[in-house]
Amino acid sequence: MKILGIETSCDETAAAIVTDKRAILSNHVLSQLKDHRAFGGVVPEIAARVHMDHLDTLIRAALDDAQLTFTDLDGVAATSGPGLIGGVMVGMMAGKAIAAAHDLPFIGVNHMEAHALTPRLMEEIAFPYLLLLVSGGHTQILLAKDVNSYELWGTTIDDALGECFDKSAKLMGLGYPGGPNLEKAALECQNHESALARFPLPRPLKGRKNCDFSFSGLKTAIRTHVDAMASDQHTLVRDDVNDLSYAFEIAICDTVSDRLKRAIVYFKRRFPELDAPSLVVSGGVAANLRLRNALKDLTGRYDLALITPPVSLCGDNAAMVAWAGIERLQRGLIDSLDCAARPRWPLDPDGDKHRRAFEQRVNNEGK
Ligand code: KG4
Ligand code: ZN
Repeated sequence: MKILGIETSCDETAAAIVTDKRAILSNHVLSQLKDHRAFGGVVPEIAARVHMDHLDTLIRAALDDAQLTFTDLDGVAATSGPGLIGGVMVGMMAGKAIAAAHDLPFIGVNHMEAHALTPRLMEEIAFPYLLLLVSGGHTQILLAKDVNSYELWGTTIDDALGECFDKSAKLMGLGYPGGPNLEKAALECQNHESALARFPLPRPLKGRKNCDFSFSGLKTAIRTHVDAMASDQHTLVRDDVNDLSYAFEIAICDTVSDRLKRAIVYFKRRFPELDAPSLVVSGGVAANLRLRNALKDLTGRYDLALITPPVSLCGDNAAMVAWAGIERLQRGLIDSLDCAARPRWPLDPDGDKHRRAFEQRVNNEGK
């Protein structure tokens, strides 16, 4: 089975062809970084136009690379949300047109499910698994029970982790994209002890008996440190930025580890029969090496396997969309050509209920 995947939900235009035997026959990603850099963030209107300008060429390149034509395909999968609605519509319209013209099934893919299933494109990973999704718009801990079946245990109550990286980087004067630039600056930090002493930062919600996240306070603390340096007549020099970036990453690693601990304990208690209980970490921020190492330590302590996609498949791409399309098609989850683009699309429609139930259970067990 060969599926064409199309991704246009944010600032990457992408097309890929993947088989049900886990072969990525082609995988083209066009980053729009240069189109948005001057604005310091993604401009939805520009994103949609750039998708329009380049998607056809990328689909053609994906087919040529795989040495296939449309008639060799078994289906077309396009991200149908959540995301910037104009861009999502561009990708869906292209996907639906190809499906209609060649009489192929169309699969409308939830972008977050595509991130969630990416590790299964690399290797056979059995359900259920514990899932940490960390991207520019989402920060969630979920139980992945099956394709199309997720239970939300925790989510951010304000900013997403990627957003916190991006906004903090901007405050420090690091260019767009913030996340990767902040990671580079942190790697340049020369004296770790002194960086942590210079820049004390909060660990939001640490110790709280649930697995929700909050990152807006951390971003505010970064602003306070930056403002304090500016008012001391001291312009930020490279060492300041490197030290603050390092302190920021350590605070993030501590916070995410703390928030995950309860979910891990509960997951293991609920599924004692699993041979290889696993934590899957996916989404753009999963590319961060310090976070990956911190989660390796954490899962090691709890005897859990840590599974992360290769860095190249952490950020937005169409191979993950094609793979999610394959998983859904194999289960008969096909969409009609009148399915709509969805700016919001929770993986767990009963998310609030499940989050509350998780918190209640943890609190009862703590008594
Ligand atoms: O999954 P993704 O590519 O797009 C969304 O679905 O949102 O995630 C993008 C986010 C951005 O906030 C970006 O700054 C962040 O992932 N990111 C990183 C790194 N690479 C990308 N954050 C920290 N460290 C990185 N190496
Ligand atoms: Zn994404």
